[in-house]
Amino acid sequence: MIVVMGIFAADLIFHTPKLPAWTETVIGSGFGIGPGGKGSNQAIATARLGGTVEFLAKIGQDNFGAMARGIYANEGVGTRFLHESTDLPTGAAAIIIDDKAAENAIIVVPGAAAALTTDEIDAAADVIGSAAVFLTQLETPLPLVVHALRLARAKGVKTILNPAPAAALSADLLSLVDILTPNETEAAMLSGLPVTNTAEAEAAADALIARGAGAVIITLGEKGALLRQKGETILVPAVRAGALVDTTGAGDSFNAAIAVALSEGLPMAEALHFACAVAGLKVTRAGAGAGMPMRAEVDALLAAG
Ligand code: RIB
Ligand code: NA
Repeated sequence: MIVVMGIFAADLIFHTPKLPAWTETVIGSGFGIGPGGKGSNQAIATARLGGTVEFLAKIGQDNFGAMARGIYANEGVGTRFLHESTDLPTGAAAIIIDDKAAENAIIVVPGAAAALTTDEIDAAADVIGSAAVFLTQLETPLPLVVHALRLARAKGVKTILNPAPAAALSADLLSLVDILTPNETEAAMLSGLPVTNTAEAEAAADALIARGAGAVIITLGEKGALLRQKGETILVPAVRAGALVDTTGAGDSFNAAIAVALSEGLPMAEALHFACAVAGLKVTRAGAGAGMPMRAEVDALLAAG
């Protein structure tokens, strides 16, 4: 079993030929609404990849909250620890996608998710303790992230922190993390070092390991992913599964895949390869939560390649 802590956000997806400047109005080319929030995306991806998952989060008592519950029922995401705020709104995000590059810019407002409490985390202690992996990100307030990682660590559960969006992390926090999974930008910000090639990624990973992280996986976009642990490097190439449609949630799909693979006992190199295949499929699909691949598709892609 895998426990994911994080936020749900209703993604309001705007396709546009250009990003508006302040005071400017741009006519967009398309619009959609779908499930987002890094933690929620990771929980949905975990379920679609065949993992048993409980999602620890907080939503509001509004339309977007109802949307989240409907999706979790459909996807088989456990909601025993999905709390509700009586006054704060469910999280929401503006996802702005460039028509040509399929790149995105995002504003996310966690809403009720920011009001999760340490008591609500503690209420999940037994389930966290029985999990193979505890996975979280940085969309919930940092003190809650620290609290939950400390709880998981005390129970001997493997911890994965996807440090997105990037924030300054203390050595105390890093030392609670078994696997840290930044992208290149986040790795550069967290380490204070440039990350523009493999050698630099290794150096940044080593700096984060020196500050307490157990192992570091840096996702490198179309260059794949690099794992650094105990002086060892594993570099796995990206997997191309079709035309690029939408990179939103690619990192989330990757993190879920690592969690699922490790919960199944796969060695790190295989977990990385599996995760690159999952992310490779995700970027051919529109939507964050909605675009997560199913396990059978991933297995077919891996068998073909
Ligand atoms: O990682 C992608 C996600 O980041 C989006 O779904 C958006 O909601 C933001 O949380
Ligand atoms: Na992402």
